[in-house]
Amino acid sequence: MDYLVNILYIVAFSMFIYGLMGLTGPKTAVRGNQIAAVGMAIAVIATLIAIRDTSQWILIALGLIIGVALGVPPAKYTKMTAMPQLVALFNGVGGGTVALIAWAEFLNTSGFSNFEHGEEPTVHIIVGSLFAAIIGSISFWGSLIAFGKLQEILPGRPIGLGRLQQPVNLLLLIVAVGAAVLIGLGASEGGVDPLWMGILLVAAGVLGLMVVLPIGGADMPVVISLLNALTGLSAAAAGLALNNTAMIVAGMIVGASGSILTNLMAKAMNRSIPAIVAGGFGGGGGAVSSGDGEQKQAKATSAADAAIQMAYANQVIVVPGYGMAVAQAQHAVKEMASLLEAKGVEVKYAIHPVAGRMPGHMNVLLAEAEVSYDAMKEMDDVNGEFNRTDVALVIGANDVTNPAAREDAASPIYGMPVLNVDQARSVIVLKRSMNSGFAGIDNPLFYSDHTSMLFGDAKKSVGAVTEELKAL
Ligand code: TAP
Repeated sequence: MDYLVNILYIVAFSMFIYGLMGLTGPKTAVRGNQIAAVGMAIAVIATLIAIRDTSQWILIALGLIIGVALGVPPAKYTKMTAMPQLVALFNGVGGGTVALIAWAEFLNTSGFSNFEHGEEPTVHIIVGSLFAAIIGSISFWGSLIAFGKLQEILPGRPIGLGRLQQPVNLLLLIVAVGAAVLIGLGASEGGVDPLWMGILLVAAGVLGLMVVLPIGGADMPVVISLLNALTGLSAAAAGLALNNTAMIVAGMIVGASGSILTNLMAKAMNRSIPAIVAGGFGGGGGAVSSGDGEQKQAKATSAADAAIQMAYANQVIVVPGYGMAVAQAQHAVKEMASLLEAKGVEVKYAIHPVAGRMPGHMNVLLAEAEVSYDAMKEMDDVNGEFNRTDVALVIGANDVTNPAAREDAASPIYGMPVLNVDQARSVIVLKRSMNSGFAGIDNPLFYSDHTSMLFGDAKKSVGAVTEELKAL
């Protein structure tokens, strides 16, 4: 039986890895996801086969039913714009599960001292469980705060204890690790008071809250990715404790891919991970500061003007951002682009790696509207083209087009790679107002001589431009 279970586990994690490879490109992402999901189903079946104590079947079936009932509806019906908080929640549940497994192991073995079948309390079981308990608990509570901030249940602005923050965090870490050491040392002497496990879980949980609360909304997706990596590591540790190969491999895959993604996102936002965790930047929008205090005036334009400019252009680059997602304007954009193409205009899409609110956000939306993958250009490939472009059409993008990131050393986003939209001959920006983007800072692009603003909801504005194009 063990043999069959191990083979199934190998099949399962081969499928995880193969599925993950599929996620590297938009054309193969859906299939990759499906393959990994089948792999997970195989891992669940293998785990069920491996269970020797069949008296728990009803509980397991109940768990599966509750999990499916709670997991499927939000995954199916949550809007694309709310995906980051859903990911945070699902990730948190993973961390919480790992912490609960560690707690159950502690209780079942009287503090890791009394194993069934005369098994010795080995170091890898104890250390694995305690590591899983600490990291799982941090990840669960931290993810709940991340969810609350993105869902706007909690304020997006940083909430912290100021100068006391780091000492308090350090103290909580010392308490959690101290409790873990006591539990570990007590294991060979018949176990310690269960209160210590409670102290460990509470200290780690409060640490999770304390670490995420001071982080601003704009940094939250990076934090979610970081918590995701931590959940993976804690699952791998729990796998070590439970001697479950599938958990170890799946946990390490999540840990490794989460760490890589965290790094890539932090790089694309020009933020270091320690700076993000220390908190501060990105209050989630609101106050606009132009820095120089000068009164600047942006120029408004009309749908008719925008249509004329684009109809007579050789090349138009569409620059989508978070606002396109909010307005759900992707289908309207595709229709407008098709009309332009019919008039002989070359239309490309410039995709910034952190446009929107999650990795690949713009690619997903445009792919949904059946924009060809070849027309979607990554930042490094398209940036050299703006100075040869007649019109850059910015649709609900702001921070990712901000030239201050290139030019103004005093700007909070200085050094973040941006799309060189300002280098196009003419720039048309579609947004509802002069409000800032997620970084909460003003964008000098909007006041440039060759920029005009088409105010309004992006979907309505694109629709109006399309109507004008039809009439030309
Ligand atoms: P933002 O800078 O957030 O700007 C979006 C703009 O869309 C806003 O200025 C808003 O202006 C406009 N908008 C909102 N709803 C609209 C609607 N219905 N119609 C038209 N316009 C609308 O977006 P971006 O340029 O995509 O940049 C993304 C930001 O998120 C960056 O700061 C990035 O660092 C951050 N971020 C992204 C990620 C990932 S992974 N994508 C992760 C973490 C952080 P109005 O209110 O005036 O309309």
